[in-house]
Amino acid sequence: MAPMEGITNFIFRNAYHAYFHPMDKYFTPFISAKPGKHLSVKEIREVSPETNAGLAVVPQILTNHAEDFLETARIFKEYGHHEVNLNLGCPSGTVTAKGKGSGFLKDPEELDRFLDRICEGLEREQMNLSIKTRIGTTDEEDWEELMEIYNHYPLTELIVHPRIQKDYYKGEIRLHAFEQAVSTVRAPLCYNGDLFTVQDYQNIGEQFPETERFMYGRGLIANPGLLNEIRDGQKPDKKMFRNFHDKIYHDYQELLHDERNVLFRMKELWSYFSVSFRNSAKYIKKIKKATHYSEYQAAVSGLFAEQEEFLA
Ligand SMILES: Cc1cc2nc3c(=O)[nH]c(=O)nc-3n(C[C@H](O)[C@H](O)[C@H](O)COP(=O)(O)O)c2cc1C
Repeated sequence: MAPMEGITNFIFRNAYHAYFHPMDKYFTPFISAKPGKHLSVKEIREVSPETNAGLAVVPQILTNHAEDFLETARIFKEYGHHEVNLNLGCPSGTVTAKGKGSGFLKDPEELDRFLDRICEGLEREQMNLSIKTRIGTTDEEDWEELMEIYNHYPLTELIVHPRIQKDYYKGEIRLHAFEQAVSTVRAPLCYNGDLFTVQDYQNIGEQFPETERFMYGRGLIANPGLLNEIRDGQKPDKKMFRNFHDKIYHDYQELLHDERNVLFRMKELWSYFSVSFRNSAKYIKKIKKATHYSEYQAAVSGLFAEQEEFLA
């Protein structure tokens, strides 16, 4: 499961794991490493074994500072983690302007020095490193050099989202760059990007039969039954989806105690869920307008009532 800030947090991943095809690994949304780092309550919930029982969770770190990275990795180790993931993909302007996330890719030499230092430190801690990367910032020119750099380090996996920073989440996936990675990268390679349907998965699988690892983001949020379809040939069933939804909704109520905040979270999820439902427009409008639980619940129940046994 892809790390998605505000979406694939501990509440979402626990509900997902309870009702749908379990994931091999769940990556946390990025956690910023800072000097003198102390985890916030929110960050502790992301990485603690108590709030993630039975799930293989990999914490993700965002920084371009080696000492800060290592300090945060050591904290994760105290919570029982043996792998940390480095975010080299985030395209947001506020992050990249500071040379972090995919902004770090524009300085391959500095990145090499950073990786050298963190790999040495992680070895001492007996911790593993995986990386989630884009293929460049404003063009693809650096991709070959970046892959050569990654090849110097003992990564447990390299997750590649074949877009450059300035693509954000749009535009054609740059498949030729992933093809280059298949023949160049030494670490186990994981494909990430635009897996929305069974057909998308099959197309990538056919083009890259050697690729065995896939990371799912927006397509999985829109249709949490996607892996059940891919692995077990089962379409998402309305009852499973309803139970999944109700667990997230109740867990947010318990966590946040604030109607506005809970509804804000649920509305964000519905902006993805809506594509899985037939004739959803009228109900989605009501969900988006809801200011009280009663309105929200009525709209959700109406939407489910309109569906057949299996969703779109
Ligand atoms: C709302 C949102 C939040 C995201 N947050 C993170 C994050 O915290 N860390 C990260 O590495 N990628 C993050 N991503 C990128 C996703 O993990 C993934 O790489 C991207 O969405 C492409 O995969 P997909 O097409 O399967 O969604 C985020 C994407 C979205 C849309």
